[in-house]
Amino acid sequence: MPRQIITGQKIADHVKRLGDLYPPIPLDTVDRTILDADAVKSKYSYVLDYLARVELEVDRNVLELLVLLPDVDETNRMFYADVWQPQEIQHGLILDRLQQDLDMPASQPHLEVSAKIKMLGALAHFEPIQQVAKLLYYLTGASTERQAVLAYNQIHTGLTEMGERAIAETIISPIKQQEPGHFAFYQMSATAMIQAHELKPWQLFLARVLREKSYGLVGTNAMDAYKADMGAVIISLGMEHGLEEYAREIGRVESRLLWANKQGMDVPPYILRALRESVDLYHERESRGLSGSVAAAR
Ligand SMILES: [Fe+2]
Ligand SMILES: [Fe+2]
Repeated sequence: MPRQIITGQKIADHVKRLGDLYPPIPLDTVDRTILDADAVKSKYSYVLDYLARVELEVDRNVLELLVLLPDVDETNRMFYADVWQPQEIQHGLILDRLQQDLDMPASQPHLEVSAKIKMLGALAHFEPIQQVAKLLYYLTGASTERQAVLAYNQIHTGLTEMGERAIAETIISPIKQQEPGHFAFYQMSATAMIQAHELKPWQLFLARVLREKSYGLVGTNAMDAYKADMGAVIISLGMEHGLEEYAREIGRVESRLLWANKQGMDVPPYILRALRESVDLYHERESRGLSGSVAAAR
């Protein structure tokens, strides 16, 4: 079946619709009533801490975007400035408030742009490199937003089963409604670049090499302590025995767009590797008796 052609207009319309449909969630609309704080904490403390931090890191993501795409166009600007950043920062603030209700420490987002990004940013002033950076930025967005969608779905189900209706329905549910639109933006934007043959073969080759070398799970920031924290999240969400399926889910967009030439690569091996590494690093840290991840990261 021929795939639909994604036009710039279609993406712009999508962004506008997201802005109209989903204003940032106001803090005072959520009901933070918790029936059994100890139970919520023992099941989801790692997850809440991780997600609050990652959501609050949106401000760094915006700086990275400006470094990587100095010539950002109006649709991209509208997405990050009017839709994405205002929505994500509220997710972070609300989750951070929730974890403090549970007597957990406030989140400490990592807000420094890495040297690696700055270097790629310097090269991105060269137009053909900026196009490669742009594709990688969209693929990263698609994979990380997909991870967010899956995580919020799992937490919503888990909290509902625990009878924690207030936080499931007034916190997790509205947040989880906003994530698929972010995913769709990145997915459509990456697809449009490939459909329009914006990249020459050498640029696609470079994109593949860089992707394999630099893939990171959401919020791991290329740091082992955060990777171990991510391992704890995977385990808390009950996904450690389905890593291959999970890798397939979060790598679907790039399998299709970047690796279509490699038949059968429906699970990008570097994604599966990243997942296994996170789980291993978590177990390793536990065996050394260093739980309290967060402290290790700081
Ligand atoms: Fe979010
Ligand atoms: Fe998002």
